[in-house]
Amino acid sequence: MSNEHGNLIKSPKQLIIMVFASFFVPLIIILLLMVFVNNGKRGETTASTEQLIAPVAKLNFKDASGPHEVQTGEQVYKAVCSACHATGAAGAPKFGDTAAWAPRIAKGYDALMTSVLKGKNAMPARGGSNPADVSDYELGRAVVYMTAAAGGKFPEPKAPAATPEAK
Ligand code: HEC
Repeated sequence: MSNEHGNLIKSPKQLIIMVFASFFVPLIIILLLMVFVNNGKRGETTASTEQLIAPVAKLNFKDASGPHEVQTGEQVYKAVCSACHATGAAGAPKFGDTAAWAPRIAKGYDALMTSVLKGKNAMPARGGSNPADVSDYELGRAVVYMTAAAGGKFPEPKAPAATPEAK
């Protein structure tokens, strides 16, 4: 009966060696595999998640309680409005196209602001931006920036009075 499992283990010493081997050999193999896998990845791991998702998305973590840095008209234009107005997509008056803008500028700043805030035809309200990201004041600056590039001469909108919690 004792010979059924072969003659590999003949003494208690061999038994101990076998137990250790069966525990440590797989462990060493796993460790080697981990090193191997990590080596293969080393080149990529230097690229941050942000870089990896850059073609499709952009992480933009903001401290909601932190001070909101007021964006310039140009920044808002680039972030929001240029999506349509840079190319004239969906019938949007193109940036810098004086002829397309002249009749709109003639309506006056307030009329244009109303169009931007409420939306107009293919243009969504606020150009599709979120009031938490782009304030009315910043939208106003974008209107001034865009119209100025097409011959408009609207003055910069007045900065809103500081809110009580802003110190
Ligand atoms: C989704 C595309 C789109 C985006 C984004 C967009 N617009 Fe427009 N915008 C349009 C279109 C289309 C029109 C023309 C609407 C019409 O008169 O039919 C327009 C018209 C305007 C006008 C003229 C409105 C009028 O009363 O004649 C202003 C001013 C304007 N956009 C400002 C902005 C600003 C500022 C932003 C960014 C905050 C912005 N737009 C973002 C599509 C867009």
